Amino acid sequence: MAIFLDTGKIDVIKKYHSMGIIRGVTTNPTIMVQDGITGGFEGIKKQSIKIANLIHPYPLSVEVTNNNPKDMIRQALEFSKWADNINVKITIHGPNGELENLQVIHELEKKHNIRINATAMMSAQQCFLAALAGATYVSIFGGRVNNMGYNTREEIARLRQLLDDFELPAKIIVGSTREVVNIIEWLEAGAHIVTVIPKFIDGMIVHPYSKETVQMFLKDGAAFEKVK
Ligand code: E4P
Repeated sequence: MAIFLDTGKIDVIKKYHSMGIIRGVTTNPTIMVQDGITGGFEGIKKQSIKIANLIHPYPLSVEVTNNNPKDMIRQALEFSKWADNINVKITIHGPNGELENLQVIHELEKKHNIRINATAMMSAQQCFLAALAGATYVSIFGGRVNNMGYNTREEIARLRQLLDDFELPAKIIVGSTREVVNIIEWLEAGAHIVTVIPKFIDGMIVHPYSKETVQMFLKDGAAFEKVK
């Protein structure tokens, strides 16, 4: 079980990576835009290479920016040359439910030996099919699932059962964190990985009662500091 960071910000990744608590990073075009990455495709390339080198050998997910099958394959081949720990995110289907994406995922994994993170999924059944197609990672967006009135924990548990029963090697990544509690509850439900918004990691670490306890230790410890 592992925690990934869902961000493209170098300084933030450095901070948590140096604590030894993250095992990978995920990005998507929206994250790249929000993080202020400019300079077109070259901008994504530069940033991705920096992140991949920083966290190596842990994996970095970089998402294609186009849903044309030929372009997805071309971009995936290109991304995977940038660093050997880059895997490529492909959405489960196109913007209007186009079905070619699973074919693309299958071809990239089986013919080109590229690790795929099948993404933008909201249900166990979508993830199950992506795993059958050969995706290394299957990403379900927990916060969005809950927001639609479904129960993310139930979807994760069903999915994990299916992957185990069918002996599928795909790893479940749950993203779209909305609350600190999501991280542990989704791992407990059966996720292999939860990809977390950085501020929620702080929320996991800092506790008001721990603060009070540390303040007590430091106050009493100061008495010893004074004696030379
Ligand atoms: C996961 O891999 C995605 O990058 C991300 O978690 C989506 O989250 P959102 O629903 O907050 O956009």
